[in-house]
Amino acid sequence: MASTPPGDGTIAVTLQINGGERTASTEDRTLLVNFLRNELGLTGTHVGCQTGQCGACTVVLDGQSVKSCMVLAAQADGHEVMTVEGMANGTELHPIQEAYWEQHGLQCGYCTPGMLLSTMTLLQDNPDPSEDEIRHGIEGNICRCTGYHNIIRSVQDAARRMNASTTTTTSNQAEVAE
Ligand code: FES
Ligand code: FES
Repeated sequence: MASTPPGDGTIAVTLQINGGERTASTEDRTLLVNFLRNELGLTGTHVGCQTGQCGACTVVLDGQSVKSCMVLAAQADGHEVMTVEGMANGTELHPIQEAYWEQHGLQCGYCTPGMLLSTMTLLQDNPDPSEDEIRHGIEGNICRCTGYHNIIRSVQDAARRMNASTTTTTSNQAEVAE
């Protein structure tokens, strides 16, 4: 965990983030969401309620989606974090992002980074979820615009895209092995 100089509330926090390592100083009471936005400049993670209700601040911490307004930056020190900025591969959108784009899974976009990352961990745990499982999987993320219909369709489309790419990769590997 982060080391705190005696008598000083400033700490250095290092994250393995979006495929790289970043370190910055911050107050020991800083929330992870504010550390990401204010110290690392990763403003794709949004601030909504700051009480753990809305999910706008969702990031992936060590493979699990968490609400970054409920975690101190110090608690994430040394751990692996993914934010929405880490999803695309250069200019190539992640299949989940493509699905939300194609299925109109957003309107104002405020909830979208959190929705995308909750979708990612949902599909990691359950690659072919039912509609009920999708609703349950994203119930911690509130959207005030879309009525959720297109978000559900986006998650279903994302699952299809990711399963198709897994199947293609597996069959290519089988061909190479032959
Ligand atoms: S800002 Fe974190 S849950 Fe709403
Ligand atoms: S798209 Fe506006 S809050 Fe979800």
